[in-house]
Amino acid sequence: MIKPATGRSVMLACDHGYFMGPTRNLESPRKTIEPLLPYADTLAVTRGVLRTSVDPKWDTPILLRVSGGASILKDDLSDEEVTTSIREAVRLNVASVALSIFVGAPHEKQSLVNLSRLVDDGEDFGIPVMAITAVGKELDKRDAKYLSLACRVAAELGARIVKTYYCENFSKVVNGCPAPLVVAGGPKLNTEEDVFNLVYNALEDGAVGVDMGRNIWQNENPVAMIKAIRSIVHEKATVKEAQLIFSENRKVNPKKAESSANA
Ligand code: 5RP
Repeated sequence: MIKPATGRSVMLACDHGYFMGPTRNLESPRKTIEPLLPYADTLAVTRGVLRTSVDPKWDTPILLRVSGGASILKDDLSDEEVTTSIREAVRLNVASVALSIFVGAPHEKQSLVNLSRLVDDGEDFGIPVMAITAVGKELDKRDAKYLSLACRVAAELGARIVKTYYCENFSKVVNGCPAPLVVAGGPKLNTEEDVFNLVYNALEDGAVGVDMGRNIWQNENPVAMIKAIRSIVHEKATVKEAQLIFSENRKVNPKKAESSANA
């Protein structure tokens, strides 16, 4: 999953449906995933999407989401259990498994015990576990103080890799976490430049990559987006260079092209 040549990774997150349902632009997972896969080092999905929407011929390593049990209709998203067994993960030939932890939320303990047990099971089969530091709805905790606590707890309980959110002072989060960190994108940002800045800054601060979804496939030009993000992650492109790659690869809107030709 983490490419030895750069020590970094572009993970494509397409596991949102397990609690959000048919998220915009992920209604038909295969359609969303297929064009993006050549530019992803890892694909994050649930077993349902893996079975129905991922062609066995595609050879991208799979990060299998194995926690769930709550949906966005519930106030408390932290009430999760492990929903897919390690035997199933082995049978599905996945590279690693992922679950959410909810530090500071009502089901903190349950989610941390879930992580610890999953690490025990994963280690038995040589399957690394990613902990995802989800932020409880009621908490306004996307800050370095909270995230460094949550990431450190995840690493101490045995997570081989931790996914978290970028925040101000992100190097504090990285420095306090002995396991490698990747960042999610979160809800769609206003501009492509905002996304490239997030990726660039997270990597400068020490993240080993991204595990990103909506800011790629909710963009009008998802392939251009993932190519540009990939250039930052693996080629150390600057934000300006990434913007150029995005512009070169985006589909030209026929109406705009026509009006500039007539101008
Ligand atoms: C869903 C997840 C997502 O994989 C994670 O949030 C990354 O996706 P995005 O970049 O859209 O936030 O864990 O629970």
